[in-house]
Amino acid sequence: MSTRPELKTLRNLEAAFAGESMAHIKYRYFAKLARAAGDAETARIFEETADQEVQHAFGHLDLLYPAAEMTPARALRIAIDGETYEYSEMYPGFRRTAEAEGNAAAIAEIDEQIAESRAHAARFAATLAKAAKRFAALAKVEERHANHYREALARIDA
Ligand SMILES: [Fe+2]
Ligand SMILES: [Fe+2]
Repeated sequence: MSTRPELKTLRNLEAAFAGESMAHIKYRYFAKLARAAGDAETARIFEETADQEVQHAFGHLDLLYPAAEMTPARALRIAIDGETYEYSEMYPGFRRTAEAEGNAAAIAEIDEQIAESRAHAARFAATLAKAAKRFAALAKVEERHANHYREALARIDA
């Protein structure tokens, strides 16, 4: 394993990103519970704080996935990898454990999540394929422009 200190910082940023992300969703959920219990004031505080946690998470993502290094295609590939890991490794492993422990509710929930993750991966993959076609079409337009300029230059040179 590398001893480069910045790699530990990257792992710390991943952990901090996970923590802030969880706080965001947890506070949204608590807000929902508070509102259902008739406590709109508490719900509002949870919602406002949840919005701030999103900004905290974005701050970590700015460092983990710098905008200058990202493209929509790269983002789609990262998303496809994440969803594929969920439905092909993570949830099947969790399902086996839930089965061994006889937790029927967890098995049912995990099965839904597997289907959702699979659908997300498929949708992202279709979007990536379409984007690739668009990119190829764009490259053709660029090529036509380049040819056009080459011809114009040739006429000027003649
Ligand atoms: Fe935070
Ligand atoms: Fe998903």
